[in-house]
Amino acid sequence: MANSLNRQQRQPNPRDRVGPQTSPLAIGPLTLADLKDVMELESVSFPSPWTLATYHNELTRNSRSRYLKVWPVAAAGTTRAAAGLIAQGGFMLFGAEMHIVTIAVLPAWRGRSIGEWLLLALLALGREEGAHTATLEVRVSNEIALRLYSRAGFEAVGYRRRYYPDKEDARILSLTALHRQRVWEPLRERFDVLSALMDRGVEAPE
Ligand SMILES: CC(C)(COP(=O)(O)OP(=O)(O)OC[C@H]1O[C@@H](n2cnc3c(N)ncnc32)[C@H](O)[C@@H]1OP(=O)(O)O)[C@@H](O)C(=O)NCCC(=O)NCCS
Repeated sequence: MANSLNRQQRQPNPRDRVGPQTSPLAIGPLTLADLKDVMELESVSFPSPWTLATYHNELTRNSRSRYLKVWPVAAAGTTRAAAGLIAQGGFMLFGAEMHIVTIAVLPAWRGRSIGEWLLLALLALGREEGAHTATLEVRVSNEIALRLYSRAGFEAVGYRRRYYPDKEDARILSLTALHRQRVWEPLRERFDVLSALMDRGVEAPE
């Protein structure tokens, strides 16, 4: 008897949440109020992080700069508070060229297509503002970022030798004809798919 009662008591309550928590994600402009979170993200993402002063300057004085952030919004019916910023990225606009200067996702949230979503959102914004070409530099050893960019259609167009403070070489990547429908349409479709996915919610880290 006692055993069967214990077994019954161990049955999960259907009202309890089972499975991993999911969080819908939102994307929008980075603001000065985010800079504390950006500093944390920088410190865990880059060997030579940008300073608070650099970001402050980018947001307040650089008219060429555009930055976006990703953050988890509290899902309907959950009591858990939404976390702060989990990803950010930005570019500078030089006429018809957008130069992507940074993109980073908090380590615990990586591998969920958030980087790809953010990259496509940056491209969409740059395109809206007249960019025909997107360029960037990436460490030659950064295989994850290289895969992310190559999936979006970026191609290697050269090297900058000893580009980084620790003297590692950079590969220069470029995505051309962004204003052409044949280039943009598949990227826009993928962006829409990922936007729907992020809106439904991705698995949140423990
Ligand atoms: C690069 C970065 C932004 C990618 O963010 P992310 O949200 O993890 O990226 P995604 O989930 O969209 O994945 C992009 C690609 O990397 C792969 N990937 C992601 N995390 C991975 C991991 N831990 N190990 C192996 N591959 C991984 C994905 O499988 C995907 O490749 P695929 O398209 O061939 O499947 C993130 O790793 C990061 O912040 N890195 C530190 C900062 C940095 O290097 N920024 C780029 C500077 S140029």
